[in-house]
Amino acid sequence: MIDLRSDTVTKPTAEMRSAMAAAEVGDDVFGEDPTVNRLQDRAAEVFEKEAALFVPTGSMGNEIAVKLHTEPGQEIVIEDRGHIFNYELGAAAVISGVTIRPVRSENRTGHLTWNEIESGLHIGQPYYVAPTGLICLENTHNFAGGSVMTAEHCAEICKRAHDLDLPVHMDGARIFNASVTSKTPVADLTWHCDSVMFTLSKGLGAPAGSILLGTKVFIEKARVLRKRLGGGMRQIGVLAAAGLIALEEGPKRLLEDHENARRLGYGAANLSGVSINLDTVATNIVIFDIARTRKDSGEICSELKERGILAIGFGNSIRMVTHCDVSKPDIDKTIEALTQIID
Ligand SMILES: Cc1ncc(COP(=O)(O)O)c(C=O)c1O
Repeated sequence: MIDLRSDTVTKPTAEMRSAMAAAEVGDDVFGEDPTVNRLQDRAAEVFEKEAALFVPTGSMGNEIAVKLHTEPGQEIVIEDRGHIFNYELGAAAVISGVTIRPVRSENRTGHLTWNEIESGLHIGQPYYVAPTGLICLENTHNFAGGSVMTAEHCAEICKRAHDLDLPVHMDGARIFNASVTSKTPVADLTWHCDSVMFTLSKGLGAPAGSILLGTKVFIEKARVLRKRLGGGMRQIGVLAAAGLIALEEGPKRLLEDHENARRLGYGAANLSGVSINLDTVATNIVIFDIARTRKDSGEICSELKERGILAIGFGNSIRMVTHCDVSKPDIDKTIEALTQIID
């Protein structure tokens, strides 16, 4: 199967598997797993943040950040297709007691301008209006098609937010993809953010795990909350060993995924019935509209599956994500299959 449903489906490499087998481990709840500690220290160094914490999933990293930055009864402001709003099962409400104020990005890049964010803020309002407690950003933006937020844009939002004493959390699940496309170090892309989550188990290729970054005090509190949420995982040096390889080696090959995504985007653009704005294919996510084919996206995905290709359909759109287990010939096969099904 050519699995283009997500970059979460990547399998650990042979190098990762042997590092996992050889990993030195200890009880991470006691802070005694040397491999986890090495991974956390290295991540903090790469992002130039004070401290880092290994968390089982990106969702847990995001939700720990939401909880630590807010008080129950507050609101968080986020772009209306953001992961924290749409795909974390209401966790911000359940765990942190906050409501979400989704704001639409007029240009549909997924990255709100400060004016758009400002329109969703509640600061200094009468006491019966829920005050804003946090702004959440996402880079790259998953459901806007892997779009990149520049370091300057992020810095401007953070500075304006900080002027209002508002913290900013970055859902950087795919921040290394943003870094490769913008040719900007991840530390610069997230410099002004109060906390950052990035994922080891997507394009970087690890089997599991994400990292939450922030100040030492923030990460101390995050460690307590991770345990409270059931995320204290003991001898996880076996996972951290793969995570270290993901962190060091993973970013080096993301450009190949981006090139494959563009190849796929161009191939799809040539098909009658498909609409795609190629400017939006900036990283490893390709989303195209199939409304003019008069076929349902579910139907197209089933026909692709019969030809050995997995993709995700939603509404009139199909999403395909490139990653380390998808090759250029796989992309050509996918274009050929799409041609047979919808051209
Ligand atoms: C932008 C973004 N943030 C967070 C997550 C959550 O990561 P996890 O699946 O590890 O919980 C995802 C997962 O796809 C994502 O795309």
